[in-house]
Amino acid sequence: MTADENSTASPFEGTEEYYADHRPDYGEPVVQYLRDRFQLDGSARVLDLGCGTGQIAVPLAAHVGTVVGMDPNEEMLRQARRKARDAGRENVEWVVGSDADLRESLHEDLGTFWLTTMGRSFHWMDQEATLDRLYRTTEPGGGVATVNDTEWLTKGVEDWQADVYRVADEYLDDLPPRTGPVEEYDDPWDELLEDHGFSDVEVRKFESEREWTVEGVVGYVFSLSFCSPERFGDDREAFEADLRTRLNELRDERGEGSEDGRNEGTFGQTADIDVTSGRK
Ligand SMILES: C[S@@+](CC[C@H](N)C(=O)[O-])C[C@H]1O[C@@H](n2cnc3c(N)ncnc32)[C@H](O)[C@@H]1O
Repeated sequence: MTADENSTASPFEGTEEYYADHRPDYGEPVVQYLRDRFQLDGSARVLDLGCGTGQIAVPLAAHVGTVVGMDPNEEMLRQARRKARDAGRENVEWVVGSDADLRESLHEDLGTFWLTTMGRSFHWMDQEATLDRLYRTTEPGGGVATVNDTEWLTKGVEDWQADVYRVADEYLDDLPPRTGPVEEYDDPWDELLEDHGFSDVEVRKFESEREWTVEGVVGYVFSLSFCSPERFGDDREAFEADLRTRLNELRDERGEGSEDGRNEGTFGQTADIDVTSGRK
């Protein structure tokens, strides 16, 4: 699988608050699946690598002994702390660091883990070297899990998403192409996990029905590394105004009695979530 967001030194700079408030969690079925598959209980120590604002770390903390949330972006961690505090979770430690830090300076300090999760983050890492390191830091019987959902601005299937893309494309020269869903990757992560020693590798797919308000759509777009507010520069306010206008027009065009069975005034999406995991 390849990166779906452009790589820069601090790719998420400026997105953090939007990320915290508008990037969805993966939902209870995914958390339940991880609990069952890895028999999570109060004795488990979990590393959430590339934790961002805690979309996995915070919900999982309710079911394990300790979570270490690790991310190179300090503002992401600040927002994650806020979300953990709001959720009443006190068993999460936050560590500034990347996959390279885990391999180089930090692994002895951090010790071993029963489970390592990587939500929407594995594609940012040196994947092979990270899996080798994680194999060593995983306790026997435990494992690793990558969790991802489809980034919808470039890979979504809904017409309203294509409209949002068109507005962003008017402002940004370097927007990644809108490809729609990617069916196959050259380097599937299940094979990568097996190649790096993990066994009992499993790919599980989940669907989640999501409803986006206008506010949510704007926040989601600004949470993407390739659409961060900074990328729009002086045009940021003009873009946001155009996007809101277009979304309100779309709502008006649909009018009363829209037949898609979804709430009036919101934009519906079926999100595909993949969990690829393996055991040591
Ligand atoms: C798309 S966010 C995912 C956040 C959260 N895990 C989730 O599931 O929504 C990707 C995160 O990976 C972090 N990241 C980027 N490069 C990284 C690296 N080399 N090692 C670890 N994390 C990295 C970013 O700072 C960002 O917070």
